[in-house]
Parts: sequence; structure tokens; C-alpha cells
Amino acid sequence: MSKGKFGIYGGQFIPETLMNAVNELETAYNHFKNDKQFNDELKYLLNEYAGRPSRLYFAKNATEKLGGAKIYLKREDLNHTGSHKINNVLGQTLLAKKMHKTRIIAETGAGQHGVAAATAAALFNMECEVFMGQKDIQRQALNVFRMQLLGAKVNFVKTGTKTLKDAVNQTMREWSSRIDDTFYVLGSAMGPYPYPEIVRDFQSIISKEIKEQLFEKESKLPSVVIACVGGGSNSIGAFYNFINDKKVKLIGCEAAGKGVDTPKTAATIARGRVGIFHGTKSYFCQTKNGQIAPAYSISAGLDYPGIGPEHAYLHETKRVEYISVTDKEAVESFEFLSKTEGIIPAIESAHAMYYAMQLAPKMSKDEIIVVCISGRGDKDVTMIADYKADYKDLQ
Ligand SMILES: Cc1ncc(COP(=O)(O)O)c(C=O)c1O
Repeated sequence: MSKGKFGIYGGQFIPETLMNAVNELETAYNHFKNDKQFNDELKYLLNEYAGRPSRLYFAKNATEKLGGAKIYLKREDLNHTGSHKINNVLGQTLLAKKMHKTRIIAETGAGQHGVAAATAAALFNMECEVFMGQKDIQRQALNVFRMQLLGAKVNFVKTGTKTLKDAVNQTMREWSSRIDDTFYVLGSAMGPYPYPEIVRDFQSIISKEIKEQLFEKESKLPSVVIACVGGGSNSIGAFYNFINDKKVKLIGCEAAGKGVDTPKTAATIARGRVGIFHGTKSYFCQTKNGQIAPAYSISAGLDYPGIGPEHAYLHETKRVEYISVTDKEAVESFEFLSKTEGIIPAIESAHAMYYAMQLAPKMSKDEIIVVCISGRGDKDVTMIADYKADYKDLQ
């Protein structure tokens, strides 16, 4: 595969003003990814600060209730700051420090990536600015307070749909206006090369650990690994070390929103077409004229009209199956996991859990499903309460 490409997907579709910054990033990453001191420092941070390895928990109650395959949960929700986002943020911020940058900027949807970036900036004594859509600021207010408390400046993005896509636009604009001292900590496996590879590499610790932990517990590979897909970072992290294990079925769950046949959806693979956006070639939800279509999901972290380029390739080559889960279904599994296991998942992760609930009863008891619980659900509790109040009459 040529540099920066996954089949025909990926690449660097960026304005000239960003070319130097992206080249500088590529050179630095290629150097430090093989640097022992860098890797030792990152390992120390992941273990001692973020709390890795995250647990691989056998969900006994859910398994018994669903009556089929054994369900294991990869507990990224237990990481410091409450999601998988910290894995990538610690890697990128350490890289920024090595590159002598003094300021990091980041986009955020659900606020988890913004919180992780603000946390790393506090730890490394760096300046931090986060860009977040006005709509997401309202539905994820808790995370806005957390970022501010951690010392970050949160910029409200009021353009477009006022969600993640607009936050990415604004962060890219900010980066091109100030590259000397600023590092863009991108939060998902998307954007121009080398970001999709950098984010995947830092998140691939998820599947590395799943493999080791499951081998210790069950002496075998899982039959299925399931993860939710926004831009695609927790999923590529959960899938990566299984891609060559052809017997392991990999399933990505996109947000169907109110249904893939409605305009209120974020199911990029189900509804999108190949296009170029945010510096990369991949699948994007588009209008007939090729403009980016507004995405919708109850989950701010999945409310993005695109998918990372490696996922586009894994879809095309049929190595990963992508399915869609509606808001209603995700809320059902959010409640199921809370009540059955005492684990309140992020609404994003509830999309993956829902599909596990459908699949497990159809599988045999000696098979294993691993679900990536990408984050914890505290941030979503009030939003779910509002959702339930709105739909009370319909239930
Ligand atoms: C908890 C959680 N899970 C999943 C996602 C989706 O992002 P990605 O597809 O990059 O994992 C987000 C994004 O904000 C998130 O906060």
C-alpha cells in the first residue's frame, strides 16, 4: 500500500498552508515511534497515569440473561478521564512536547477527547484550546466544565450544524493560522495522513491487550469483536491486532440516529458515498450535489458525517462488517447494561453493546464476544433522562 493510503482511501487533501505542519508531524512521528525513550515514557504514562491495562471483564449477568455467547467488556471507561481518548492524547501530546510545541489544540464532540486533551495539557504544563460545537456544548455540559476546570479554553463553534464536523473545520483553521508553537491533537482515526495512522497506532493497545487478556482467561481468540464507530478510533484500536486473524469477526456499529432511511442519521457506510473532506478520501454522508450532509445522532461522539479512511478500506475489502444502531436501540442497551451489570456506558459504546445483545443469543455458549466499552456514561445521564421524557408518550 502506498504511503498514507489504505487502498484508494486516505491521503493528504489539505491547503498549502498546512503542508509544512503535516510534513513536520510525519517526520517527527516516524522518528519517535521507533524511539525507545519515547515508547518507555508513553508506556509509563499509560500505565501509571491513565491506569492501563484496562480490564477485560466477563459480563456474567448479561451473558446469562442473553443466553448464548460469553460476553466480555473491554473497559476503556475505566481509564483516567473516562474513555479511550486518553490513549491517543497521551501519545500525541508527548509527541508535541518532543517537537518543542507549547500549545495544543483539539476538536471535540462528546467532550471526551477535549477532556483528555485538557488533562494532558495540564499534566505537561502546556496551553490548551478546545473547539466544540454549540449543540454539543449544550448536550455535554458536564465535559465543558471539566475542560475549563483543567485550565483549557473552550471555544464555542456556532457555524454549520454546530457539531463535531464544524469543530474539526474550526480547529484546522486555527492550526493553519498558528503552526509554529501549536500541535493539533486530532481525536479520531481520520484527517490527513499521518493522523489516521498515528491515532490507530496509539489506540491499537486496546486490541493488543484484549488478545493477551483473553488468552490468559480463555486460552483462545474471540469469535467476534464489536465497537462503535464515529470517526473510528476506538474501533480501529479494538480491531487492529485481529485483522490478520481471519476467524475473528469484526463488527463496527455506526449511529443510525432516527433510522438510516431518514435524513436524521450518521450512518456513513450505510448512507454515504466516497468523497474528500477534512483532508482525507473516505466515505461521507453527502447531498446529491456532493456537499457534506448534516449528520444526526443522539450521541455527540458518533454525530459525524464521515468515517476514517482505514475503515473505508476495511469495508471495501469486507474484513469488517459495518451495521447501524438507532438512538432508541442505543438507549435500550444503555439501560440494559446499567441495570444488568451496574455499568453505565457512554451512549456511544451503547451502540456496540446493542448489537452484542442481538448477536449473543444466536451464538453458542462456547463462543466469545468482546465489546469495546469506549467510555463511561456519566456525561449522558441528563441527556438520556430528557430523551426518555420526550418519548414517554410513545413508549
Ligand atoms: C466514549 C466515546 N466513544 C466513542 C466515540 C467515537 O469516536 P471514535 O469513533 O473515534 O472512537 C467518542 C467520541 O467522542 C466517545 O467519546
